[in-house]
Amino acid sequence: MHEDLWWRSAAIYQLYVRSFADGNGDGTGDLAGVRSHLSYLAELGVDAIWFNPWYPSPLADAGYDISDPRGIEPAFGTLADADALIGEAHALGIRIIIDVVPNHASDQHPWFIAAQAAGPESAERDRFWFRRGRGPSGDEPPNNWQSIFGGPAWTRVTEPDGSPGEWYLHLFAPQQPDYNWSNADVRAEFEDVLRFWFGRGVDGIRIDSGALLTKDAALPDVAADYPPGPSHPFTDRDDVHDVYRSWRAVADSYPARVLIGEIWLPDAARLARYVAPGELHTVFNFPYLSCPWDAAALRQVIDETLALNAPAGAPAIWVLSNHDVDRIVSRYGRADTAFNLARRRYFHNFPVDLALGTKRARAAALLTMALPGSVYIYQGEELGLWEVQDIPDELRQDPIWRRTGGADPGRDGSRVPLPWSGTEPPFGFSPPSAVSEPWLPQPKEWRDLTVEAEAASDDSMLRLYREALHIRRDSAALGDGAMSWLPAADGVLAFDRLSGAVGVGGVRCVANLSTGPVELPPHTTVLLASGPLTSDGNLPPDTTVWLRV
Ligand code: NOJ
Repeated sequence: MHEDLWWRSAAIYQLYVRSFADGNGDGTGDLAGVRSHLSYLAELGVDAIWFNPWYPSPLADAGYDISDPRGIEPAFGTLADADALIGEAHALGIRIIIDVVPNHASDQHPWFIAAQAAGPESAERDRFWFRRGRGPSGDEPPNNWQSIFGGPAWTRVTEPDGSPGEWYLHLFAPQQPDYNWSNADVRAEFEDVLRFWFGRGVDGIRIDSGALLTKDAALPDVAADYPPGPSHPFTDRDDVHDVYRSWRAVADSYPARVLIGEIWLPDAARLARYVAPGELHTVFNFPYLSCPWDAAALRQVIDETLALNAPAGAPAIWVLSNHDVDRIVSRYGRADTAFNLARRRYFHNFPVDLALGTKRARAAALLTMALPGSVYIYQGEELGLWEVQDIPDELRQDPIWRRTGGADPGRDGSRVPLPWSGTEPPFGFSPPSAVSEPWLPQPKEWRDLTVEAEAASDDSMLRLYREALHIRRDSAALGDGAMSWLPAADGVLAFDRLSGAVGVGGVRCVANLSTGPVELPPHTTVLLASGPLTSDGNLPPDTTVWLRV
């Protein structure tokens, strides 16, 4: 792979700073904790780290409410720590991707504070969506849009003279006012923020809520039955593509920098527009992430993903989980193995068979890492951590939990601090001198899922991920390139990854999602299997194998 095109094949580790490792003992992860565990990530075999937002933030939405996009959250460290971290990661061959959040600010961002103070019709308010309310005294929201986190998408301000005032738009929490992307200051500001971080050596940007930025300025009501969710009928507009064309020009003025879009859109044709030439390099793959553990459904999503990216020559992204969705071993251990944000409250009512879920998650990991393109691993996925569904209500932090009155359990269960070592919480997440407990409680059963325990166990999830990532990196046939399906029985996915280079062995991947064992297709050796083969050498259900051909 050409150095400059590293992102086409990369294995990228999603690092949620708050929950990765706590260096200073305050119960919250920080950059010192990351720096002291970079060798873990190098050994795991990842090519890049994507950091969830690390900027100063009141943490109303876990850092997706940013008060200074050029700084580091003091609880995480300093800009000097970030610079040192970038340098140390680069020295280990690990690239750095950071989150940029262009749809909204924090209500504590100086621009929003200035907008409130400046009053109606001011240049300061024009950077956001301030509007008069409806009704004779303006005490009804300007339209009927609902926040993606529940409740109305508008909050009313008190004007500087103390009178009830205008309303501002927030597609997420009230502490996250939406920027107005028709405003020239907003456009210039974000280009400058990109330059700030690219100039410090950051290799890529993950664009948060990337389809939502620009809105229909008429702010029309939505149909009453419009379902809540991360896409919105009056966003995903043509003018958002102007923003990304200008961002691409900024990225291209530095070597090998990459723009990755978080674009939740059900419509593949509209999604494909974001990877058109001169725009984003890649987009996240939510259809794959949400797909049930079902061979026909997975095959359809894989084909659609490749077809969507093909016209632009963009590489696919394969991702099983992230900080917004249920952990994969829990999902695959339920009677319904799909994921859907709007139906999370319903999924949590299913009993979880963790042994089955873990077996399937192992098989899914090998399937995913064999597909053509780049792959994301959400921290803790490599340990087989489960969704913590029994966090006491008073400790829950996610605004989704609060704004839905507890009806939606939210995302805290996938954000519990990592277990590193030892047999009791905090499992080495915090140093022995810690003065606070981890910000979310860890299940005591995670003593068997610590990095220390799993590194010592031949058949652990960690050892499987390490081995798979190393084979994937060393094999010219895996990562970017083409795949070809092989004939297979119902419920079985079989495909070849051939490098095309003479004398370079290919990899044949077979995933058995059926209920009985299947025979292996022709091969020279077994490279890696997600679980033991049967005594007569067949592939058991819920198992994936990589074969050398
Ligand atoms: C998507 C992020 O992944 C999620 O965590 C966040 O709450 C929303 N965007 C709002 O920024």
